[in-house]
Amino acid sequence: GSTQNEIKMSTETERRVVNLLARSKDTSTQSSSTSTFTRAEKQPLSSMPISRSESSSSFDTMKEKFSSELRELQNSKKASLSAKAMLAFREKLPAYKLKDEFLKAVADNQVLVVSGETGCGKTTQLPQFILEQEIEHLRGADCSIICTQPRRISAISVAARIASERGESLGETVGYQIRLEAKRSERTRLLFCTTGVLLRRLVQEPDLAGVSHLLVDEIHERGINEDFLIIILRDLLPRRPDLRLILMSATLNADLFSRYFGNAPVIHIPGFTFPVAELFLEDILEKTRYKIKPEFDNYQGNSRRRRRQPSAKSDPLTEMFEDVDVDIQYKNYSLPTRQSLEAWAGGQLDLGLVEATIEHICRHEGDGAILVFLTGWDEISKLLEKIKVNTYLGNSSKFLVLPLHGSMPTVNQREIFDRPPSNMRQIVLATNIAESSITIDDVVYVIDCGKAKETSYDALNKLACLLPSWISKASAHQRRGRAGRVQPGECYRLYPKVLHDAMPQYQLPEILRTPLQELCLNIKSLQLGAIAAFLAKALQPPDPLSVKNAIEILKTIGALDDTEELTALGRHLCKLPLDPNIGKMLLMGSIFQCLDPALTIAAALAHRDPFVLPINRKEEADAVKRSFAGDSCSDHIALLKAFEAWKGAKRSGRERAFCWENFLSPITLQMMDDMRNQFLDLLSDIGFVNKSKGAKAYNHYGDDMEMICAVLCAGLYPNVIQCKRRGKRTAFYSKDVGKVDIHPSSVNAGVHLFPLPYMIYSDKVKTSSIYIRDSTNISDYALLLFGGSLMPSKSGEGIEMLGGYLHFSAPVSTLHLIQRLRGELDKLLQRK
Ligand code: CDP
Ligand code: MG
Repeated sequence: GSTQNEIKMSTETERRVVNLLARSKDTSTQSSSTSTFTRAEKQPLSSMPISRSESSSSFDTMKEKFSSELRELQNSKKASLSAKAMLAFREKLPAYKLKDEFLKAVADNQVLVVSGETGCGKTTQLPQFILEQEIEHLRGADCSIICTQPRRISAISVAARIASERGESLGETVGYQIRLEAKRSERTRLLFCTTGVLLRRLVQEPDLAGVSHLLVDEIHERGINEDFLIIILRDLLPRRPDLRLILMSATLNADLFSRYFGNAPVIHIPGFTFPVAELFLEDILEKTRYKIKPEFDNYQGNSRRRRRQPSAKSDPLTEMFEDVDVDIQYKNYSLPTRQSLEAWAGGQLDLGLVEATIEHICRHEGDGAILVFLTGWDEISKLLEKIKVNTYLGNSSKFLVLPLHGSMPTVNQREIFDRPPSNMRQIVLATNIAESSITIDDVVYVIDCGKAKETSYDALNKLACLLPSWISKASAHQRRGRAGRVQPGECYRLYPKVLHDAMPQYQLPEILRTPLQELCLNIKSLQLGAIAAFLAKALQPPDPLSVKNAIEILKTIGALDDTEELTALGRHLCKLPLDPNIGKMLLMGSIFQCLDPALTIAAALAHRDPFVLPINRKEEADAVKRSFAGDSCSDHIALLKAFEAWKGAKRSGRERAFCWENFLSPITLQMMDDMRNQFLDLLSDIGFVNKSKGAKAYNHYGDDMEMICAVLCAGLYPNVIQCKRRGKRTAFYSKDVGKVDIHPSSVNAGVHLFPLPYMIYSDKVKTSSIYIRDSTNISDYALLLFGGSLMPSKSGEGIEMLGGYLHFSAPVSTLHLIQRLRGELDKLLQRK
């Protein structure tokens, strides 16, 4: 039951939606015919300069010719001086010594598992050995080697490295392909791609036709894509007896994979590393004489995102560190533990400690690059700032400080691989991307903060979060190993030994700790059958409750129908590597002509809120946020307005002062801006918009608050609560958990009455009570038009949604009208 007002579908709203649907039809036909950008990913995985259309005998002759061309090319490049110099380097790699054994094992077995310490030459050498051999034996034309990488940056850097080892330029026989970017040609016989690219390619080529060798790299990381891929491959192998599969792993749990593939043989590459001395927090504090400052600085973008870790995963460590800044319970712990807690006050690392450690090494220890492991871009950029103004380290002729982060533009990341001038010390500030997939030579010192950003998912409370959490012993070992590659090294751990001892042996695989919506969509788009049955075949199958939740959400947002098949919307969402809710918001934003605000809000949802929470100036900060929100009753509108104001301030060169006065994080805003561009690229890639026209071309209703809120509703549904009047105040109810509260940081906190009956929200958090974080007050219209599926209510008078939880008193004719409009939208999506 509800206290809804009678809905009279306003003719204005109705007319607008009908117009919009008509308009988007026009633009869709236009943009598909005028679209000029190339969709690199549409290329098949393997291609040749000759085609099968020739008669079979001339096809064979041309293939032979092509194979001998490739061999001539290879031999002539091999003779070059630079390739010879490279060969001397290659021969020293531990992997090189196992070349013959490896090639024999590949020839004799369909599946092979190879493990070896990072830097031993797995990624650069093993695919290259196969390539050299196939070309040398005149099988070049038939050979197509694919090697997957979990990250874009490693796909590019490794391909570039191999091309230069072969004395070629990138894109000849060795190329790469990542989303929206490729460097390859018809001659390319070894292709590096991200695991995501391969997964999407499997839609068109379910048998990987033409691929002769597939190498799946970094499987020890247990990323969700890799875990997914190996289920598919295990089913595929019997259908492709000629396909060779090689799994590469950095650590020693190779047996797990071997068993999964029917006891496939394992080759271990013995590595050599120099000893690395370990220093823990207690030693570091003594050496540096640094006094940890547990107070907060003013830019604590993180602290408002901090949440309780899901209870499912609670281990003694997590519990111990959970609420450090909330209650000062850490006073009870022994000294080293307390110091560590203080070093991480509020979930934030004391960057002064990191700075002091770097300075100590630079002043008192020998030469060699320093590699610092931090958790994210925030910390990296703050530390960059600190170093810039440090009187000793700020000397840019002596110290070369470089950031390394997964979402940096790829050009910058490549700087890391250029050797610095010999008189300079290189200091690389990295996330865990430098843990195994990227090797930086000359590292002698590693500084390890002990944490990495990790997503976790709590199936019971349906909560997901991305938070820095303590790494595993395996990761800590891996990080330490980065220091011993060229000479004995040192590893500075910014946490006490007791903490290290309590770390779990391995990290939980990603498939067990993230929401599964995206994965479920992929299973459907690859036509792999029933979702639950398929996932039960995983190396470590996810909790059936998580699977059920994910399917439920996909049905609710209209990506899957009742029979678990993809809808038209679902098919588009499959092509976006994004959370389906965020993807839907973007699609609706472009269809309904308010793309610009949709991009901004989606970027904040995918990354984080740009508002920061200064501990001692909370009232001021709240007031600023309210002024951005105006009378919208919306945190999302507040951040949208703040973003737009920041853009203006940036143009007029007042960015810093603006951010400071308005309690905004310039780092987050910049990141959001970059993400907006990435989202636009993605929409353009799937043919929804034409990027060259820019977001403004899809923004006819970009200033229309009603429309923006409706699109928000489309993206955030079913995150909806009812606002019910209780005397002079409003109480809030959600379908899942009953009564909830508005989070104190929201512009809607403390408001007694709201103009509209519903609230749509980004996430709920469970602390002392269940709180709704960023929320937007919305109307019945928004829900009826953009929410989930509708049904006539049982009583016969009215419309129901969310399985009867929401009730609208409206005539049945309204229901029919809305269903017709939705039908139009669906037809439009089907045509795209
Ligand atoms: O895959 P794995 O960690 O076993 O090693 P790799 O990536 O094949 O790297 C082998 C060696 O090649 C490293 O030790 C680096 O010295 C060198 N390398 C390089 O100089 N530049 C690159 N972009 C990649 C590797
Ligand atoms: Mg590697």
